[in-house]
Amino acid sequence: MAQVYLDHAATTHLRPDSRAALIAALDVLGNPASIHTDGQRARQLLEDSREQVAAAVGASGIEIIFTGGGTESVNLALKGLWWRRRPGTQRVLMVAGEHHATLDTVAWLAAHEGATVEVVPVDAVGRVRLEALDAALADAGSVALVTMLWASNEVGTVQPVRDVAARAARAGVPLHLDAVAAFGQLPIDVHAVRGDAGPGAGLVAMSVSAHKMGGPVGVGALWLDRSAALEPLLHGGGQQRGVRSGTQDIAAAAAFAAAARVVTGSVTGAGRAVAGTLAADAVHMSRLRDRLIAGGLAAVPSAVLSGDPDPAGRLPGNAHFSFPGCEGDSLLFLLDAAGIAVSTGSACQAGVPEPSHVLRAMGRSENDARGALRVTLGTSSTDGDVDAFLAALPAAHASAMVAGMTADTSRRTVPTTGFGRDGGDDGGARSFDVRAFGA
Ligand SMILES: Cc1ncc(COP(=O)(O)O)c(C=O)c1O
Repeated sequence: MAQVYLDHAATTHLRPDSRAALIAALDVLGNPASIHTDGQRARQLLEDSREQVAAAVGASGIEIIFTGGGTESVNLALKGLWWRRRPGTQRVLMVAGEHHATLDTVAWLAAHEGATVEVVPVDAVGRVRLEALDAALADAGSVALVTMLWASNEVGTVQPVRDVAARAARAGVPLHLDAVAAFGQLPIDVHAVRGDAGPGAGLVAMSVSAHKMGGPVGVGALWLDRSAALEPLLHGGGQQRGVRSGTQDIAAAAAFAAAARVVTGSVTGAGRAVAGTLAADAVHMSRLRDRLIAGGLAAVPSAVLSGDPDPAGRLPGNAHFSFPGCEGDSLLFLLDAAGIAVSTGSACQAGVPEPSHVLRAMGRSENDARGALRVTLGTSSTDGDVDAFLAALPAAHASAMVAGMTADTSRRTVPTTGFGRDGGDDGGARSFDVRAFGA
């Protein structure tokens, strides 16, 4: 049975232009660091790709550092900014409901570098509480950095990035945004968000990943404002301004750039602007999303929509439900057996269903947090996909309700760190200091 794929937030299909660029660039011989003609040809392709990715987020090429994906980009931003922080600063402000790339990185900074991580709470739809951020920034002199998602990969809530960036700018504190879920679904202009923030303050860094928007897995980027100082994680040949050493993967960069070009548009050599597909994709996905949400709530009256009910406040491709009284994982398996691929959106710990820390941060009960189902659309999604999901949902839900909840009461309730997920040494968690402002 052909699978109906409704898990585009996990990864989405490779766009044909991206595949073509990838394959073509694999045959380009030459290390972009070499000074001979072949090397310079490779370098030209790399730098054109960098310019294209930069243009897609409103930046210039010099500000783009290619990485091996979103996780590396987030690690580079958070650890790099931390290691270059202003003297006397030790507080890391993290908005609740982050992806594990951030959660586990700040937990590591707490365990190994003495960071004091403070969780800024979100409201019932998952949006940052600005008054709590203001309270946390009252003593801005002790804040090393602030980090937040541009939009939630799990419940799809879009954050007020301009408001947060303005606050960080006023406080003189650097802000990192994880835009992995947002890039490709929302227009992004880093300099418009950054505004006239002073050097090293306000929005200075942002992470994106190619495979969430039609590029290949294993390549991402960090946008780093020219005014920001960052300590590298990798040392070596000094590539990419010395921030990320290592021979650069021109095929991955070219493929990422091609996906970005299709989505956000480009300007031809002759100066002619070519529109991207972003706006039309958003209209298409939003329409399917709204059908899916309305249909899902009608099919299972006890279902609860998570995230912002206002379509303007959530990602075009995101629908997220809680089904109280059953495990999201049971639903996932039952839907999978019916040929529908969806996600619970949260981590599964060695086969044990884990309540979503994102929903818990939004004040939802453990019951709701365990019955979560994330259904995400992509540009290739169709009305037929939505119909198939809505047709399969009632029976899957009825079976999952019969299966009920697993009786494991030993699970953690609000995991604020990723420690212990791999069953390894979790000793660091004890020194992880999380204070929730106004929670
Ligand atoms: C919000 C967010 N940040 C970071 C990542 C990690 O990106 P990557 O898979 O490219 O390492 C993901 C991937 O799911 C994500 O959704």
